[in-house]
Amino acid sequence: MVDSGRPAFHFTPPVNWMNDPNGLVYHNGEYHLFYQHHPESIVWGPMHWGHAVSRDLVDWQHLPIALHPDERGMIFSGSAVVDKHNTAGFGANALVAIFTCHKDYVETQNLAYSHDDGRTWTKYAGNPVLPAQDAYRNFRDPKVFWFEDHWVMCLAAGRQILFYISRDLKHWEQSSIFGDGHSARDDVWETPDLFPLSVETSDEKRWVLTTGVWNGAIAGGSGTQYFIGHFDGRTFTSERSAETVLWMDHGADFYAPQSWNNEPEGRRLLVGWMSNWQYAKLVPASTWRGAFSLIREVSLKKVHDEVHLLQRPLPEMQRLRAEHFRWQEKTVQPSTNLLADLHADSLEILATFAWDGNVSRFGLRVRLGEEEQTSIYYDMHEQKLCVDRSQSGQVDFHDMFAAVHSAPLLPIDGLIRLHVFVDAVSIEVFANEGLLTFSESIFPSQQSQGLELFVEGGSIFLHSVDVFYLNPARFQMAEKS
Ligand code: FRU
Repeated sequence: MVDSGRPAFHFTPPVNWMNDPNGLVYHNGEYHLFYQHHPESIVWGPMHWGHAVSRDLVDWQHLPIALHPDERGMIFSGSAVVDKHNTAGFGANALVAIFTCHKDYVETQNLAYSHDDGRTWTKYAGNPVLPAQDAYRNFRDPKVFWFEDHWVMCLAAGRQILFYISRDLKHWEQSSIFGDGHSARDDVWETPDLFPLSVETSDEKRWVLTTGVWNGAIAGGSGTQYFIGHFDGRTFTSERSAETVLWMDHGADFYAPQSWNNEPEGRRLLVGWMSNWQYAKLVPASTWRGAFSLIREVSLKKVHDEVHLLQRPLPEMQRLRAEHFRWQEKTVQPSTNLLADLHADSLEILATFAWDGNVSRFGLRVRLGEEEQTSIYYDMHEQKLCVDRSQSGQVDFHDMFAAVHSAPLLPIDGLIRLHVFVDAVSIEVFANEGLLTFSESIFPSQQSQGLELFVEGGSIFLHSVDVFYLNPARFQMAEKS
């Protein structure tokens, strides 16, 4: 089989298998990105930590593998911190990785440290720092961060998140458990993250806890839920009812997101794996498999007295904008296509729509070919935003892939705003300033590069449409050591 086209601006492994992002940390001018990696196969297997660095989060340099499996097992997901004050005794400003070792379902938490900007790593001789627990078969994915005067670790355990605290990264004491009775409980929770965010245009603050749900998520299979609440350094409490389920993304391909520790501008930036455990090992691939989402900047906003998560594409991505097409104040009737002359498989679209009373649906078709299309449309009757990838290209490798995913969306001031990114094997939709997102893998043929802006039943009024062709980001291979 030929390689699925390499994305132009999404991160992919140099070869073979990749899943979760790991160890996201900023240090000495570099953003580090580690990832779950099987370096010898395009299917999941003995997990290593692959590694790449970037100075601007757009262009990346691949580096040699950072962590290899050992007698304690595979190197599963985890995080990394800068130990500024040498709390662990590995040296001031050491980079410390905290990760799960997995062997026959014995899961322990372990440390490794680096004094050379993450180029080489030493595993701590006193590992594990947290032994396996009989009560939990799944006990993994430590996300560690600094809180005022101590370290905090969030750990996924069954359908719960355990919180631990430490002064030195080596000795951990359990401080609380979150999750009992809360929200999506169909399958195990994985890869937690916890971070504070400001509520836009107010001086309020909340904490957001995110967790992967392995199966049973909103678009089928794996997905990411989140909770909004408060954290006092030891205990997280959700401010919503226990039944509330909040999904971070309504597409099928946004899993195991992690945010960067130590971001120099104080922004909260995160990235997820664009796949789904239901079909991850079946998606078309020959030499590499797995991609990350666009990096997103998150914040909070109050809508009708409730706090919601907002996710926006990383502003630095604007650097890739090339040719620009713009329409303003334009009425569009059914059976016309304003975008008929445009063709690209790497682009960005921003559109703001209003409509007359007869419209039944309107939206965009991307990666359009003779027999292929992926549609993003607003259904007026249902007041839902939908993404239909049932005819997006290769879809028959798994039963649940050819699907329409949808989520409720209300107009704001009578308008729907869409911000869409299209790349070789994915689309991402940010609606109404990031209140709703969809991340979807697609596998169209390379020739399907058409675009359409369509309306059914009545006419739409476009405040503006901007289409940008995007230049590729640079992904530099590791130098042979
Ligand atoms: C999430 C996950 C983690 C685990 C890793 C193994 O996708 O299942 O819980 O650490 O992948 O690769």
